[in-house]
Amino acid sequence: MSLQKKDEYDHNAWLQEKDLTPVEKTFLTALVWLDKRFRIVDYLELLETLYYRVNLQMPKSHTEQYDLDNKFWYWYPLYTLGFFSTLAYVVAAISGALLGFYYTPSNAAGTAATGSVAYEQITFIMTDLQFGFMLRSIHRWSAQVMTAAVFLHMLRVYFTGAYKEPRELNWLLGIVLISLTMVFGYTGYLLPWDQLAFWAGQIGVEMSLSIPLAGEWIAQLIFGGFSLSQSTLIRMYILHVFLLPFVVTSLIAIHIGIVWVQGIAEPH
Ligand code: HEM
Repeated sequence: MSLQKKDEYDHNAWLQEKDLTPVEKTFLTALVWLDKRFRIVDYLELLETLYYRVNLQMPKSHTEQYDLDNKFWYWYPLYTLGFFSTLAYVVAAISGALLGFYYTPSNAAGTAATGSVAYEQITFIMTDLQFGFMLRSIHRWSAQVMTAAVFLHMLRVYFTGAYKEPRELNWLLGIVLISLTMVFGYTGYLLPWDQLAFWAGQIGVEMSLSIPLAGEWIAQLIFGGFSLSQSTLIRMYILHVFLLPFVVTSLIAIHIGIVWVQGIAEPH
């Protein structure tokens, strides 16, 4: 339908004539309002056509080929591991955002003579903040559940042969996702700036330095020097609360988008 034709048509009169429920009327009025300004219906139609064109090029899945719709495979419990990873990620993101209100990434000496401001904030969350211990536990547990779920999800994809053509790209994207999940875990582990964090950080610096040729440069880039300092903490913080959330959320959306377009694979 051309833009010209749409403008000539009186949608409001049409909406009044029809016997619509309030929900239908609100939905259609909003749609018409948006469409007059942004032509969204045209774009949606374009997307739909594109979707079917892409979908038609996909080989028939086992389920389609043998007409197994709504039978065993669609409810195979191991197929929920990807969803479980996503759920754990969402819980970690929400609890992490709330923790962010109370955490300060500072290596400066705290008031209690021992420990830094960062560590003191963690102590505050655990002992003084109402439900703080619960919030922090939810964050730590969801992070660990996510790591485990992503690993099991990868095993299920491998053992059901779901990485094969035409899903190789999503497998590769998965490799990036599992690596970033581990970087998420590592950067978060350092944030409390306690003994565990300190020694885990120290190991990270040593590992970077052991890389031939580029070792010193990598340690400088990731840890801000060859020993732990304020630069290390702020790098971990920015990675954990700013860069990784953006990148991982976008990659998960693309990953699930590809599953949506390609359909779920059945065991080969
Ligand atoms: C942040 C981590 C990840 C999230 C949130 C995630 C999410 C998902 C979801 C929701 C699905 C569809 C349902 C399912 O199969 O369980 C899926 C499918 C898939 N994932 Fe992941 N995934 C992640 C990591 C990985 C990893 C590490 C790999 C492999 C290296 C991988 C490879 C695949 C493949 C190939 C499919 C398609 C499977 C099929 O069609 O049967 N994903 N993912």
